[in-house]
Amino acid sequence: MNSNQYCVLYHSQIAPSAPISCVADIVKTARGFNKDHDITGILVFDGQRFFQYLEGPKEAVMGLVVSIAQDRRHVQFRLQHQGPSAEERMFRNWSMAYVLVDDSEPLADLHGIEGESAMDKLRSLIPMLDIA
Ligand SMILES: Cc1cc2nc3c(=O)[nH]c(=O)nc-3n(C[C@H](O)[C@H](O)[C@H](O)COP(=O)(O)O)c2cc1C
Repeated sequence: MNSNQYCVLYHSQIAPSAPISCVADIVKTARGFNKDHDITGILVFDGQRFFQYLEGPKEAVMGLVVSIAQDRRHVQFRLQHQGPSAEERMFRNWSMAYVLVDDSEPLADLHGIEGESAMDKLRSLIPMLDIA
């Protein structure tokens, strides 16, 4: 395990005042910034809830999470997991994979859990997600 590789999983809800179109802006910003900072991951959105998993160098990931947590386009930010991650990334080909799900059922399962259980659930969801 490379000790500097770190990962974070959180969920939040789109702010009542934020237009749905802001999600496209978020993904665009994320793809540019994350690529430049060696961060990879996935953003899942179901029309109301966000789930995001980020992986990369610890300082870069934590710095980004601080700024994401303060972003007013979402509310009820809840960290579900953070910690060292395996050197082999889950999303090595994606500066920010994006999935819009129309069935919120799978995400509902991920909502109430934390820590390694949340990570296991995320891993089990990946094959079911139509990643774009
Ligand atoms: C749900 C959500 C996910 C986000 N994910 C990322 C991301 O992966 N990478 C990124 O650079 N910005 C992301 N952002 C945007 C950041 O919060 C912030 O706007 C961006 O880092 C620019 O910050 P600045 O305006 O303070 O420079 C996300 C925002 C939200 C609401």
